[in-house]
Amino acid sequence: MKSHFSILSGITLGLLALSFAGEAADGDWKRGRVYYRFVCTDCHKGGSSEIPPNSRSMAEWKAYFQADKHEKGKTSLKYYVSKAFRESIKAKNQAAAKFIDVPEDQLMKDIEAFAIRGAKDGDAPATCN
Ligand code: HEC
Repeated sequence: MKSHFSILSGITLGLLALSFAGEAADGDWKRGRVYYRFVCTDCHKGGSSEIPPNSRSMAEWKAYFQADKHEKGKTSLKYYVSKAFRESIKAKNQAAAKFIDVPEDQLMKDIEAFAIRGAKDGDAPATCN
C-alpha cells in the first residue's frame, strides 16, 4: 500500500515538474530572435540608436515588456508586434511575412524570451547581429 502511494506521488511530482518546464519554455527565443533582428532592429539601425539585447539586464527587459511603453510611451511595442503592423510591412520584410500567422501574444513572448536570454546577465548575451 505504502509503496503504491509513493509511486503515485512520484508521478504527480513528475507531471508538475513537466508543466512548469512547459511554462518556462513558452516563448520561442529563436523565433523572437529572427523578429528582433529583422523587424525591431531594422528600425533601430545605425550607430548609437542600435538597441542590442545585451544593453539591458534581464530584470530591465522584464519590466520593459511589462510596461509596454515604447519610445517612452509615444508608441506601443504591442503595435509593432501586431498582425496589422506585420501586414503593413510584409511585402518588404521577410520576417514579418514568415510569422504573419503567429498570434500576437505568442510573438511578444518569443521576443521577450530572446531579449531576456540575450540580456547582459542572460544565458547568452546578444548583440544586434
Ligand atoms: C517603426 C520603427 C520601430 C520599430 C518597428 C521598433 N522600434 Fe523600438 N524604437 C524606435 C524608436 C524611434 C525608438 C526611440 C529612439 C531610440 O532610442 O533609438 C525606439 C526605442 C526602443 C527601445 C529603447 C527604449 C524606448 O522605448 O525608448 C527599445 C527597448 C525598443 N525600441 C524595442 C523595440 C522592440 C523589441 C521592437 C520590436 C518588437 C521595436 N522596438 C520595434 C523605433 C522602432
